Amino acid sequence: MLRALTHIMTNVCERVPIPKNGVDYRGKIVLAPMVRSGELPSRLLALKYGADLVWGPETIDKALIGTTRRINTVTNTVDFTRFSSNGAKNPDVNPDQRESIIYRLHPSREGRQLIYQIGTSNPDTAVEAAKLIAGDVAGIDVNAGCPKPFSTSGGMGAALLKTPDLLCDILRALVSEVGNPFEIGISVKIRLLETPEQTETLVRKLCATGITGLTVHCRTTPMRPRERAIRQQLPLVRRLCHEAGIACLMNGDVTSRDEALQLMKEYGVDGAMIATAAETNSSCFRANDDGGMAPWTEVVAEYVKMALEVENRYGNTKYLLGQMIPGKSPVYRQMTQCKSYSELVKALGYGDELSHLAQEVDQKLDIGTSRKTTKAERKMQEKASKKAQVNGAFSRKRQIEATATHQAQPQAIKRKADAAELDEMPADIARETGPGTLSEQASVLAV
Ligand SMILES: Cc1cc2nc3c(=O)[nH]c(=O)nc-3n(C[C@H](O)[C@H](O)[C@H](O)COP(=O)(O)O)c2cc1C
Repeated sequence: MLRALTHIMTNVCERVPIPKNGVDYRGKIVLAPMVRSGELPSRLLALKYGADLVWGPETIDKALIGTTRRINTVTNTVDFTRFSSNGAKNPDVNPDQRESIIYRLHPSREGRQLIYQIGTSNPDTAVEAAKLIAGDVAGIDVNAGCPKPFSTSGGMGAALLKTPDLLCDILRALVSEVGNPFEIGISVKIRLLETPEQTETLVRKLCATGITGLTVHCRTTPMRPRERAIRQQLPLVRRLCHEAGIACLMNGDVTSRDEALQLMKEYGVDGAMIATAAETNSSCFRANDDGGMAPWTEVVAEYVKMALEVENRYGNTKYLLGQMIPGKSPVYRQMTQCKSYSELVKALGYGDELSHLAQEVDQKLDIGTSRKTTKAERKMQEKASKKAQVNGAFSRKRQIEATATHQAQPQAIKRKADAAELDEMPADIARETGPGTLSEQASVLAV
């Protein structure tokens, strides 16, 4: 009912062509593309809590080219795999472990709600890669917004905003050679340019390429993630898109379904995309009328179950738990010490059913207590123990101050520490720690 009302309430674009195998982006509140944080279980979780569409993590064209498409009958997923460089050469490596999963999707649970985001700077390789996956997804989105040097130095991401003709060539090639034959949508995700005039020139060009959707991240390329999104240019972008019959989605500091609906109405855009709020707690996609935000304990339990069901890479699961479990919870520290799914399930206090599944998945993925701690995990553990020290020092400080005065100073310090932790952008952590696996290299390279 609420979703149907969205169309009436908002100033949606009237004439967007919807390809037979594609989706209508209008009236949708969607999960943003997020390297590391947008892997399969995170997408399933977002869908469970009501996301209308999910974008997969950006994966660069060259990483997908050369992969083999396999149907995994255990997890019911479609896996795009390739031999890992050490696994292929090393006969001691378990055959199951020799292949790296570059991209994993779940046709029956994600169905036609999944958009594949590509990192590219070349129309030919973009088309070659997109053709491999076009039959499994509802759309292909080009990332033209990542500001990081490892992406821009390859001419990808936000660098494409400075080479609009190349970006348009890529989009036109994708529309004619992938979008049209596979009957799916081609879209683009951009950032704002410095002035409305510059943004207008760019968006007009993009709108003439045959795309059916455009997402605008309401920050300029130099803006840091923690700077507030700016929305002054949004009505302009929306107007240009609507004149061309293209759905316009807004992104940047949208934190819940109800807020998204209100913003869509205010700015007349067709949809809204949520990243960091969903990374922390996917129930942000649930309307207040349907229960609203769920406690993190519930969301984490759902996430672990989904991660086990699809045999998610253990390091990735743990990384996501680091985003979802509040650092001040005692469980956070315990979680950072775990070396396997079995330990994790125990630390989180889940029952026998999950415990058995965890053991099976550990065996399948060859995870055990002898497993080496990864660099990312070491960082997480250090962070947890630093936090414990800070909290320890803080409680001591509070005891002393409480005896001396009843002022709320320690609370302020604590809030500051918590805010600092929240400010620590996961994407930055991913970049600092560096990608661990081939699939992470494939996607982290491109954020
Ligand atoms: C962990 C993380 C990974 C991201 N990876 C991508 C990506 O693969 N592709 C992309 O276009 N943007 C990526 N972004 C940017 C988000 O999609 C989004 O544009 C940005 O976070 C602003 O939305 P928000 O204010 O809701 O967080 C990433 C952001 C985060 C936090």
